[in-house]
Amino acid sequence: MSVSGESTPAPSTPILTVTCMACGHTFGGSQALSTCPDCGGLLDADIDLTQSLTPDAFDAPKGSVEALSGVWRYHQLLPRIAPEHIVSRYEGHTPLYWNERLTNYAGLRNGRFGVKHEGHNPTGSFKDRGMTVAVSHAMSIGARVIACASTGNTSASLASYAATAGIPAMVLIPDGKISASKLSQTIAYGATVVQVEGDFDVALALLRELTAAYDVYLANSVNPFRPEGQKTTVFEILDDLDWQVPDVIALPGGNLGNTAAFGKALSEAFQVGLIDKLPRVATIQAAGAAPFAAYYASGFDHYEPVHAETIASAIKIGAPASVARARRTIEQTGGIVTSVTDEEILDAKATIDTAGIGCEPASAASLAGIRKLVASGDIAADATVVGVLTGHVLKDTDSIVAYHLEDHDGELRPRANRPIKVEATLDALKKVLDDAVLD
Ligand code: F0G
Repeated sequence: MSVSGESTPAPSTPILTVTCMACGHTFGGSQALSTCPDCGGLLDADIDLTQSLTPDAFDAPKGSVEALSGVWRYHQLLPRIAPEHIVSRYEGHTPLYWNERLTNYAGLRNGRFGVKHEGHNPTGSFKDRGMTVAVSHAMSIGARVIACASTGNTSASLASYAATAGIPAMVLIPDGKISASKLSQTIAYGATVVQVEGDFDVALALLRELTAAYDVYLANSVNPFRPEGQKTTVFEILDDLDWQVPDVIALPGGNLGNTAAFGKALSEAFQVGLIDKLPRVATIQAAGAAPFAAYYASGFDHYEPVHAETIASAIKIGAPASVARARRTIEQTGGIVTSVTDEEILDAKATIDTAGIGCEPASAASLAGIRKLVASGDIAADATVVGVLTGHVLKDTDSIVAYHLEDHDGELRPRANRPIKVEATLDALKKVLDDAVLD
């Protein structure tokens, strides 16, 4: 896409503008920019931070999109998009569950652990919060085609929102490496699915070439409008807590768009007076895909992308796009970054699943990471922690089947729950009742 941004100093009254976090140049937001035309840096959408807000600012008339959508409810802290361009599936309004079993598992002896379940969004992941803003922006600028590269959730979300908007969608997925549930969803919503030979990092790099060369709107989280919607997970957590700030908000990190969004949300909520301190943001990566955790461990001195390998396919990303913005989040919030093994992820997932809540593997990194950070003393055992569950349990049924039904190194997994085959007799059922159900 040809870019004709005019560089000006940062505006005092932002309407729909974006500013480069590296060089500080500001550009009109009525074009599709994913990186700074001047220096290639990451862009942030500008928000009016001269306003002062109290929680009642978010009361909205019944039946309005601001009341129905847990994203547009916070429109004062989002880019201004004309109502006729808003494409919403009434996302957000997700549950926050406080859970004793998860609290114990995390080791928060005198604290508590709650999960904000973003799997309860319309397409089953947190991506819908970002997608409503990106696709609305795409509508407002008359985008012809919207495209993304994805490990599966962004593609399902884009496919749904683009279909809602009536704009063709094209998604690039790593060949054979996303869950069948996510692929099915994306196909069902009607997007054109392109299986790229290579992993997510290859697909995203290729997509960025495509959107730079042709008139195609990029919907990945490098697009500054995507993180804007994802900020509302944080606004809703704070709202759920009556604007009392938890000690820690934990989330899985892959491409790091969400980590970037969370820091921006917290800093803005603070600046407009909604909160008087910031919680620490804890970003948890899978050990086989943890370049940001290594960067953090080096004191943000040395950064190197990796070749990613993890069972949590959603976060199997070795060259995250939002590293600089995510670093800002960790620095601004006194945050922390760590990584957890696939075994730790699977064990935490089994704990979340058997608590009756359920999530996809990547989401469970939140709990696994907090357990590790409490054990190491990095997080106090009396902390109040909110972990974000980024995707629904049905998002990755392949991993459920593999965990529960398949042997691992010739053995059952520790919490495998295999269906039991019986003859159709009452005696057989009684035996199951005694041996398995009541055991
Ligand atoms: N959890 C889930 C379930 C995800 O799908 C993703 C990212 C993340 C966590 C990580 O979030 O990238 O903002 O750090 N999924 C992207 C996708 C990459 O294509 O669906 P992040």
